[in-house]
Amino acid sequence: MTTCLSVRNLTTVFDTKRGEVAAVTDLSYELSAGETLGIVGESGSGKSVSAMSILGLVPRPPGRIVSGEIMLNGRDLVGLDRGELRAVRGSEVAMIFQDPMSSLNPVHRIGAQIAEGILSHRRRPSRADKAAANRRAVELLESVGVPAPEKRARQYPHQLSGGMRQRVMIAMAMSCDPKVLVADEPTTALDATIQAQIMRLLREVQGRTQVGIILITHDIGLVAQNVDRVLVMYAGRVVETGPVEEVLEHPRHPYTVGLLRSTPSKLPVNGGRRRLTPIPGLPPNPAALPPGCSFAPRCTLRGDRELCLTERPLPRAAVSDGHLSACHFVDEIVQ
Ligand SMILES: Nc1ncnc2c1ncn2[C@@H]1O[C@H](COP(=O)(O)OP(=O)(O)OP(=O)(O)O)[C@@H](O)[C@H]1O
Ligand SMILES: [Mg+2]
Repeated sequence: MTTCLSVRNLTTVFDTKRGEVAAVTDLSYELSAGETLGIVGESGSGKSVSAMSILGLVPRPPGRIVSGEIMLNGRDLVGLDRGELRAVRGSEVAMIFQDPMSSLNPVHRIGAQIAEGILSHRRRPSRADKAAANRRAVELLESVGVPAPEKRARQYPHQLSGGMRQRVMIAMAMSCDPKVLVADEPTTALDATIQAQIMRLLREVQGRTQVGIILITHDIGLVAQNVDRVLVMYAGRVVETGPVEEVLEHPRHPYTVGLLRSTPSKLPVNGGRRRLTPIPGLPPNPAALPPGCSFAPRCTLRGDRELCLTERPLPRAAVSDGHLSACHFVDEIVQ
């Protein structure tokens, strides 16, 4: 499989009154064409900042990428200027967010907005270009399952349901044939049936285009059903990564174990009902991370081991290929 995106040792910080705060630290992963990578973790763990870093959307100031590289199509996105990043966003990387209304313009018709995105790469579009873009907008609406696409193209965002609006966002995102699609909580605002339809649509689009998808979500059930590999983040770092079945069925980091136990599972569970056990304590303050393992203060498997409080564990191989865990005692966690 061809790699479409490679992130190496990415660190993104925010300058705050309390000094420099790392939102993402030393993040590395690769995404292949046609693959879906899930990023999960509690609120504030750095999921969105990691995605915004790729898209060149970290607000600067106060944010900045201090180190690392983001290789896309043989080019490092770190260090590109605003104009170059905007060009990358419109063509090679696209995004969809939780709230389509925040990305759609309420006073412009749907079709015109999609056409505008298509035309934004032409300096002086001719009348023929405009007509072609309008036709393409209708085709795109049809390709994402919007019924009566010609009629919908003439409507305004508020005339569409949440699920239809998210379909429009997917059409817009795919209009320039991107290599990478970043979807940050794309279905969180939708009910379960519509959620499933949108995820099915994303997989369908991926099958047609081989776009690499980064799916950011709190929802482990969504991850279980829709991603190939998963990356679990805690306090800005990856604590565990691997093929999705492997990580969800045999988690090798105490945080992943806790996350799975605290999540209402859509996975089939042996023995019927499962009790939910919340992870004790709160995520750490990113401005004051503990010196050893960031998860140590909440870890129920630590016992009285000193190492966890003094030395930061580095990701290392767990049992199988491509399954990494950043726990000093990875060999003792067998689920
Ligand atoms: N504009 C900003 N200024 C300062 N700090 C920020 C800013 N944006 C994000 N952060 C910090 O970066 C860290 C990571 O935030 P991020 O939004 O990536 O979390 P997340 O994992 O996406 O959470 P959620 O699940 O709530 O969306 C947090 O500690 C957050 O406070
Ligand atoms: Mg987020």
